[in-house]
This record gives sequence, C-alpha cells and structure tokens, in this order.
Amino acid sequence: MSAALDSAAQSLSSCLARASVARADLEASLRQEHTDCFRLFHGVAEGRPGLTIDRYGELVLAQTFREPLTRDDIDAIERAVDGPIVWNHRAKTARESFAAFAPYTELALREHVVSEHGVKFPIVARHRGLDPWLFLDLRAGRRVLARHADSKTVLNLFAYTGSAAICALAHGATTAWNVDFARSSVQVAQRSLVLNALDPACLVTVVEDCLPVMRQLAGLPVKGRGAARPFTLVEARQFDVVFLDPPAFSRGPFGAVDVAHDYPSLFKPALLATAEGGLVIATNHVAEVEAEAWRDVLRRCAAKAGRPLQQIDLLQPDADFPAFDGRPPQKIALCRV
Ligand SMILES: C[S@@+](CC[C@H](N)C(=O)[O-])C[C@H]1O[C@@H](n2cnc3c(N)ncnc32)[C@H](O)[C@@H]1O
Repeated sequence: MSAALDSAAQSLSSCLARASVARADLEASLRQEHTDCFRLFHGVAEGRPGLTIDRYGELVLAQTFREPLTRDDIDAIERAVDGPIVWNHRAKTARESFAAFAPYTELALREHVVSEHGVKFPIVARHRGLDPWLFLDLRAGRRVLARHADSKTVLNLFAYTGSAAICALAHGATTAWNVDFARSSVQVAQRSLVLNALDPACLVTVVEDCLPVMRQLAGLPVKGRGAARPFTLVEARQFDVVFLDPPAFSRGPFGAVDVAHDYPSLFKPALLATAEGGLVIATNHVAEVEAEAWRDVLRRCAAKAGRPLQQIDLLQPDADFPAFDGRPPQKIALCRV
C-alpha cells in the first residue's frame, strides 16, 4: 500500500466508523420496524463524495458515481461491514466499468430478499438497470403510506419496481395501481406480490407514460404529439391515496416531466385523481428546489385547480440520509386534500 493510498483508506475507515456511530439509534428503531435495509454511508455528507454504501439485508452494495474504489478502499469497507461487498461503479462509463471494476460474483447476481416495515422486497445488485430496485431514501414516504393504506385504494405514479404499491397492499390497501413506462421495472412488483403472499388481483399494472394516464384519471384532455397516436385508455376515477414520486426530468411524446420548473403539470392531475379527504404523497428530489418554495407551488397549484389543500406536512428523510448543509435534496410532502 502506498503512503497516499494508505492515508486515503485510513480516512475512509474513520469516515465509515463515524457513519456507523451516527446510525446506532436509527438501526435500533429500524430493527423494531422490521426493516433490514438502510444506507450505511452517504457520500459527501459523510466525508467521501461520490460513494454510497447500502445494506440490503445480507447484501452490502457500494456505488461510486465519480472516482472508482481502490483495492484499499474495498478492503476498508469490507473490514467495516465484516464481509464481502458488491460494488457498482456508476460514473459516465458505468456500463464498461461494471465489468472492469466489479466482477459478476454470485453475491451480485442472485436475489436477496429484504424487509422494510415487515414488507419483503427482492433485490438483485447487478441487473439490466443501474438503480437498486428499492430506493432507501423513500422509506420515510413508504412509512407514512403504510400508516394510511388500510382499506384504501392507492395510485402509484412513476412506480419503478412498484415498492409503494406493494407496501400499500401489504398494509391493507384494497387495490393499488402501478404506472410506469418501463415494463422491466414494474414487472419486479410481480415477484414482490409472491414474496408477500398478496392477491395478484389487487394490483393493476399500467405500462404507459404517466402523463396521459394521470390526465385521463383526472378527467383532463391528453396533450402532446403522443395524443395523436394510440395510447392506453383508462376511465376517469379517484383514489384514496396517490403516491407521486417522479424523476427530476424525463421527456416523451406527451410532454416533459420537469420537477424543478413545472411541478404543477404533475401535481394538478395527481390531485384531481385523489378523492375528497384523501392524501397525496408527493416527492421532489431536485436539490436546487427549496422545501418552502416547493410547498408554496403545491399550495398555489391546488388552490388554482379548485382543490385547496387542508394541510401540507414536509417529511424529513431518516437519519441514514444526512444532508451536508441541513437541507436534504429529497423532499416529501404529505398533502391532505
Ligand atoms: C426515480 S424512479 C421512481 C421511483 C419509484 N417511485 C419508487 O418508489 O421506487 C423514476 C421512474 O419513473 C419512470 N418514468 C420516467 N418518466 C416517466 C413517464 N413520463 N411516464 C412513466 N414513467 C416514467 C422511470 O421508468 C422510472 O421507473
């Protein structure tokens, strides 16, 4: 080990030790909630920009978004977690880097079953996409969803692997819809149904752009050049709970999803598709958007849509997602309609 590497690995070891101490209380409360997946290390906020480390049950997944790990870094992490890790390098050349830096071990390729609030989810560290199948920073939102799901109907927009719908069904929802245009992602929810012995008839999967689906549910006309072509038709209807967790940006034939500049074009149809007395759980992951400014956007949008909100509460992420400036990029709003 060279002197420079030695000191970098030692400093990573001390960052990991500090991160572990900082999570002691959280880990204890997560165990009580029957949750065995959480973030062990959160990048720049804990001393190493571009490195995250997540525990998914017995699997420890390190992800790098800038510099790859060195052999000494890997050794330091494996010492800290007392076992082998899987490492996914996700810098610009991520696809090649997967092969170059991180061997396709059995640990990386097999399914691990994890538990969050007692609900089981499948995790495969190395799959055809880049993101892990369960976003751990959304735990705080799913915790609230779990509390409000019993006997409710739930709409999960931008569903990805459908973890919010599965969470809702496992906590007593009568029906949940997953809407996402990525078939391979929403299909993961079928495995989650099996793991939790849930009734497949309770889950509706809509593989389609969310924009036309949510606008039809809301009784609004479908816009964009996509409207001229065939798309999935749905009847207007309202749900008790709508979970709206869009990506920061995406563009398609029905228009753009642009969370920083045009949240109302998502929030208005989501709101109109929510029953009177219901709940919208909405997220915004864009760091540049201030929480209070976003709360104002939601409030004004609801008033303009004729569905003024009774209350908006902003949730803090759990302590495994510390913010270096005290302003977490991920914001979750509970909006009572
Ligand atoms: C950040 S993930 C959402 C995470 C998800 N809500 C969860 O609970 O894990 C973004 C998802 O949005 C989907 N997506 C992006 N733009 C979309 C659009 N216009 N219509 C449908 N799905 C879209 C992507 O396929 C991806 O699965």
